[in-house]
Amino acid sequence: MSKVTRFQTLTGMHDILPEDQPYLKKLNKTLDSITNYYNFQRIDTPVLEMADLFSKGTGSGTDIVEKEMYTFRTKGGDIVALRPEFTPSIARSYIENGMHNLPQPVKLWTSGPCFRHEKPQAGRYRQFSQFSLEVLGEQNPSIDGQLIQMSYDVLKELGFKNLTIEVNSIGDSECRPYFKKILTSYFRSRKASLCTDCQRRLKDNPLRILDCKEEKCQRVKAGAPQIIDHLCDNCHAHFKQVLEFLDELELPYTLNPYLVRGLDYYTKTVFEVTEKSETGESQGTLIGGGRYDGLVKLLGGRDTAGCGAAGGMERIVNLMKGRELKSGAKQEETKIFLAQLGQMAKRKSMKLFEEFRTAKIPVAESFSKDSLKAQLRTADKLGVRWVLIFGQKEALEDFITLRDMETGDQKEIKLDKVVAEMKAKISKK
Ligand code: HAM
Repeated sequence: MSKVTRFQTLTGMHDILPEDQPYLKKLNKTLDSITNYYNFQRIDTPVLEMADLFSKGTGSGTDIVEKEMYTFRTKGGDIVALRPEFTPSIARSYIENGMHNLPQPVKLWTSGPCFRHEKPQAGRYRQFSQFSLEVLGEQNPSIDGQLIQMSYDVLKELGFKNLTIEVNSIGDSECRPYFKKILTSYFRSRKASLCTDCQRRLKDNPLRILDCKEEKCQRVKAGAPQIIDHLCDNCHAHFKQVLEFLDELELPYTLNPYLVRGLDYYTKTVFEVTEKSETGESQGTLIGGGRYDGLVKLLGGRDTAGCGAAGGMERIVNLMKGRELKSGAKQEETKIFLAQLGQMAKRKSMKLFEEFRTAKIPVAESFSKDSLKAQLRTADKLGVRWVLIFGQKEALEDFITLRDMETGDQKEIKLDKVVAEMKAKISKK
């Protein structure tokens, strides 16, 4: 006998089960309201893009592209990739759709699945969802401040408490090359104390050593020169203004001179929002972002400034669940149950149910059950106040029996008056 395969989700991928949906719904609702308030427009880009978009945009030497990207050749011979993040896709869309002709800045937001072939661990998946906020066409530091404020607002609104915002500036093409030299010479003299990955990074991108989570590298990092001390005048002035905005907004930020973030397109401001929980549980960074003034040009567009942020939706939902942060998205409370008995009543009940839906009155039912007793048990479990009983006699004579579960009273209502009467009853409560 052949063995039947029991299929499972792929490593690092997961179902979002019904019990998690209310949390996701609450997060989506919060995102909708905040992006709407700040006048961001929704955009959706394809899950598949040319792999080169990310090699060029995110950076061919980044972990995301070098180690984690799901890349494959199509039947037509194109090398494509499942998006590991949104920013290059949105910059591509900005260029492709001539958005530089729109009034600037163009503020866009999106959300959806992203893919990174990472080693799965707490808060780290191979398919995960991000929301991404992107502002293109404005270099003013108020935009950086606004994006940090929005990132903070999303979490705050969901009930997160001990939020920390870390910020840094990593300069631009004017000051960073010089800083890289200083940093290289610092690390070169301590090369033996670095992990093998960082010994390699020393050659390609010494800034990434600052991002390394290995303990031995952290120790070396502690004495490393800080880019803040080597910013050019323009980057320095920009960063100073960003911090002034954060002060004005009274946001709880700290300067982390070693925050660099592992993506190649960043210039000037970078930031991350995390939650320091009392229990010590950590999902890692919840929202990360920064400025990317060179990205649009790098991808073939005009010289266009950009700044954005992205949040990991699973990480946020996991914390909401763990702490019973209110999902607030409970199914609307149902006060009416529609019970039916017999074929004709069942058919007519389905029509009545649809009338309730059009009138936006929540009604519970269990059409699949035939026994009235079983249906009343369900109604009891739901704790509804009113049960509408649609039996054979009722169906023949076009009326319905209403039972008040609190008082036990029963009365008959003409079928064409039921919706209006029930509407009046629930709005009274
Ligand atoms: P990122 O830091 O690579 O930045 O990702 C942003 C957020 O996505 C992280 O802070 C984390 O919450 C979530 N995330 C990343 N990888 C995973 C994973 N494997 N599993 C679960 N969650 C994950 C970006 O992607 C940039 N595009 C952010 C940005 C937008 N910068 C400017 N604009």
